[in-house]
Amino acid sequence: MNQTATSRVEIYARTARVLHWLTVLLVAVQLPIGFYMAYRGGTLNVWDGLTNALYSGHKVGGVVILLLVLWRLAYRMSRGAPADEPTLAPMQRLVSHLNHWGLYLLLVAVPVAGYIGISLFPALDIYGFKLPGVVAPDQAAAKSVFEIHRLLALALVALIAMHVAAALFHHLVRKDNVLARMLPSLLRR
Ligand code: HEM
Ligand code: HEM
Repeated sequence: MNQTATSRVEIYARTARVLHWLTVLLVAVQLPIGFYMAYRGGTLNVWDGLTNALYSGHKVGGVVILLLVLWRLAYRMSRGAPADEPTLAPMQRLVSHLNHWGLYLLLVAVPVAGYIGISLFPALDIYGFKLPGVVAPDQAAAKSVFEIHRLLALALVALIAMHVAAALFHHLVRKDNVLARMLPSLLRR
């Protein structure tokens, strides 16, 4: 990992930073599309071209996120992460590590549950093409798996909220270099 010449703060390598911000962008689109399409299809029962396009887009986006996160995890496990920001208390280190690994876990579990759900339903169509199913169709099981997908997505929202609040707290209140580890242009020397 990179270390700045003028401070002891280690920052994330460029690849780790690009993968982080690309995931942020995709998940920030994926979550509202998921809630909105489920509202149109599930609550309003409107199955027009827009609802179908949102479902297709959500499935493609989810598979792309899953592949990106698997790549990111392989990179993370092989290259590690920079040493923690030196001013963090042991409890803050522990909570931040739990938050990060919880995020990784949910970034895999949410799309996997979604994919199993569309295989069980089955709802494997995306823009007229068919994705490969991974389990035999079973409508009742699909309902439970989609509920799990929804609950895991809500847990992901909760962890992201904690994560973003902590990043902003460090930058705006504690005025340390935690956020700068992912956005080096913000480094305070
Ligand atoms: C990180 C990736 C993903 C996130 C954050 C995500 C998030 C969501 C959210 C928030 C909902 C709305 C839940 C509700 O209000 O009922 C949803 C629904 C849905 N997702 Fe995903 N999803 C992801 C990946 C996937 C993947 C990979 C697939 C399938 C290939 C998928 C298929 C679906 C389907 C079919 C629904 C509608 C379920 C229903 O109508 O009950 N999702 N998703
Ligand atoms: C979809 C939203 C997000 C997800 C899923 C996410 C996920 C992650 C994960 C998994 C890590 C751990 C990296 C590692 O050590 O391998 C991380 C680190 C980090 N993220 Fe995010 N992140 C999100 C949004 C944000 C936002 C909006 C900010 C800034 C406001 C941010 C700032 C940071 C910082 C500063 C770190 C490094 C923390 C440290 O090591 O001290 N993240 N993020």
